[in-house]
Amino acid sequence: MIVLGVESSCDETGIALYDTERGLLAHALHSQIAMHEAYGGVVPELASRDHVRRAIPLLEQVLSDSGESVSSIDAIAYTQGPGLAGALLVGASVANGLALALNKPVIGIHHLEGHLLSPLLAAQAPEFPFVALLVSGGHTQLMRVDNVGEYTLLGETLDDAAGEAFDKSAKLLELGYPGGPAISRLAESGDPGLFELPRPMLHSKNLDFSFSGLKTAVLTLVKKQEGELTDTIRAAIARAFVDAIVEVLVAKCLAAIKQTGMKRLVIAGGVGANAQLRKALNEAAVKKRFEVFYPDLALCTDNGAMIALAGALRIARYPQAAHFDYSFNVKPRWPLDAIN
Ligand code: KG4
Ligand code: ZN
Repeated sequence: MIVLGVESSCDETGIALYDTERGLLAHALHSQIAMHEAYGGVVPELASRDHVRRAIPLLEQVLSDSGESVSSIDAIAYTQGPGLAGALLVGASVANGLALALNKPVIGIHHLEGHLLSPLLAAQAPEFPFVALLVSGGHTQLMRVDNVGEYTLLGETLDDAAGEAFDKSAKLLELGYPGGPAISRLAESGDPGLFELPRPMLHSKNLDFSFSGLKTAVLTLVKKQEGELTDTIRAAIARAFVDAIVEVLVAKCLAAIKQTGMKRLVIAGGVGANAQLRKALNEAAVKKRFEVFYPDLALCTDNGAMIALAGALRIARYPQAAHFDYSFNVKPRWPLDAIN
């Protein structure tokens, strides 16, 4: 079965073709980062308009890259939420319009379920059950994953998401948008002994997170420099920030592994691309004897491949979830455990 995946929840248009027999056939992506950069963040209206421009050319690209034609598509999966309402509506319209024209079933997918299952596309894929750390621009959650559609929330952020903390702190260090990769790179050259930042909720005895205080601590540190934000200081602050957030994320993963008795940990979402986090988790995995799985780097951030995969896995497990009713709605706010 060949499933077309359509992702348009935020600032990336992603289209992909996944075959349940042959795996990922092709995926194409357009990132709007350059367009939003001038505004320091995503402008929803511009995002929606750009998805309209990109969706069909990207579809043509995956068809040509895979050597398939529209008639070989058996089902269409699209991100139904959470995300920006206008942006979601573009992907939903494209998916439902195409499905109607082809007379094929359509299925709405939860964006985070896509992230959560994305490591299954990697050469080294985990088996169920596993603990998953979802760290994206909008979410930070620890989940217990027993199977497709069987998700239990173990803990989550009480305020800012990890990616948001990366982006906001990077902005304070004048690193542009999105700041995650930039602050991570800068931290590599930073002196680890110069500054110390708080590790929020490290000893909270639960699996929740809180990152807004960390961002405020970065702000306070920046202000203290009284305009003398030299390259050395900026790198040292970046280093202190990355060290703090990585320590908290790793500690909570270890606590979740211990609490659930699981032996497999999956990292998903944009922050999962972070080099320092991966290094620390790999070291912890060796020490504590569990396995850690990541999506391929290119599939950590938003993409259509994870939506196509989630659609295929959902249809295999719950065939009635795909439908021929092409009236649709999107769900800008949609808790993941509501889809079980
Ligand atoms: O999953 P994603 O692409 O979009 C959402 O669903 O939110 O995640 C985007 C987030 C941004 O906050 C970005 O700064 C962060 O992931 N990010 C990183 C890295 N690459 C992306 N954060 C830290 N280190 C990275 N290498
Ligand atoms: Zn995402």
